[in-house]
Amino acid sequence: MKLLTTAARTWLTHTPAPYRFTAENDSILRYDDCPGLGLYVHIPFCRSICNFCPYCKERYTPEAAQAYTAALLQEIHMVGRMQSGRTRVGSLYFGGGTPALLAPQLRDIIATLQEYYEITDGIGAELHPADVNEKTLTQLKAAGVTRISIGIQSFLPEFAHCLGRPAPQPEKLAAALALVPFETVSMDFIFALPGQKIEHIRQDLDTAFAHGANHVAVYPFIDFSFTGSPVHAMPGREKHQLLDNLTEYCKTRGLVRDSIWTFALPGNHRYSSMTRDTFLGFGCSATTLLRDSFKINTFSVPAYIERIRNGQLPTALTTRFTRRQRMVYYLFWRAYSTFVSKSDFKDFFGTKLDTEFRTAFCLARLLGYIQHEDDGYRLTPRGAYYFHYFENFYTLAYIDKMWGIMRHSAFPESIEL
Ligand SMILES: C[S@@+](CC[C@H](N)C(=O)[O-])C[C@H]1O[C@@H](n2cnc3c(N)ncnc32)[C@H](O)[C@@H]1O
Ligand code: SF4
Repeated sequence: MKLLTTAARTWLTHTPAPYRFTAENDSILRYDDCPGLGLYVHIPFCRSICNFCPYCKERYTPEAAQAYTAALLQEIHMVGRMQSGRTRVGSLYFGGGTPALLAPQLRDIIATLQEYYEITDGIGAELHPADVNEKTLTQLKAAGVTRISIGIQSFLPEFAHCLGRPAPQPEKLAAALALVPFETVSMDFIFALPGQKIEHIRQDLDTAFAHGANHVAVYPFIDFSFTGSPVHAMPGREKHQLLDNLTEYCKTRGLVRDSIWTFALPGNHRYSSMTRDTFLGFGCSATTLLRDSFKINTFSVPAYIERIRNGQLPTALTTRFTRRQRMVYYLFWRAYSTFVSKSDFKDFFGTKLDTEFRTAFCLARLLGYIQHEDDGYRLTPRGAYYFHYFENFYTLAYIDKMWGIMRHSAFPESIEL
């Protein structure tokens, strides 16, 4: 598989060179030439730590949260002042960790961002089911949050417990959500757990839509090498079957697929922090994607705070894209959203998609992975499956390696992927 993806990457990017990340740390970020800019803020605190979770997080304490918030506000001022005037951006997402733990501080953080950025497409935040109560939801709404995502994992005790979490009580969630409604209420599920069948997933999704969700994210369980989870990934064939059945079920329910893993009730319910052509990331482990570079902040909370106190950006690693690498990276995330628009590609790169990737797109059409739709290409269910296959490999080969290193070294010298 590694050989195959390396060959595909070499063919598509026109270079055998890997993506090389080095310890460069710019003092200025230029983002005046970034179309479709989004904002992301990382909140690395949780009440308790789940043994399967790869994200950058630590146990919440009021002292750590206070020091972190002060640094975050300072980082926003530093980056915001790098450009004159207020920059128009799309959405703002708070990810974690569990951002809802900082619900009382979000108003300040959002207000500070709004000094520099005009947010035109809503604000999203992640919650643990324990945060779904009238008080926290009201605080989030008053701060300006319009979309929420709740980490359910499974309503069924046997699968929640195998992840070491209590099973959320749907009636409790529904009651709080009825009191404080949001434009999008997304619920996260993990599938491909040992013994899980399509009936279990159907039951989970039906429970979600009957208790306040209008959007769901259904992620395959990933057994990251550094998490020490006792649960192991389901064998490929079984997972493939489950994914096919799940996609078919969502289709028969009339759900709209808005990315590889997300399905929504008809209407405009969206929740996606990842599918932006460019974005600025604030906080530890946050990433920033600019026109020609990609940056990752340090994963260490104390190192993050120290850098900011010294008036420096907390970037740990930077990669500079060749133009072709940048196109491939762009297409990867557009494919994740299941649609690639020719006019958007032309606006971003000033060249035609069909000219740049004629052979690759012809091949993908012949194999039945994509089909023409409006001014672009839509991933077919077959294409979505193979994208999932590739993404799973990419996650294990690239993200697992990078995050594994970043968890132990606040500022590594370099990483090659
Ligand atoms: C940052 S966490 C969610 C928010 C909140 N802290 C919670 O746990 O409820 C984002 C989502 O990533 C997914 N996730 C975490 N670890 C995973 C893994 N090993 N494999 C697949 N999905 C995972 C879960 O569905 C989780 O809800
Ligand atoms: S799954 Fe959520 S609550 Fe659990 S450690 Fe990860 S971010 Fe924290």
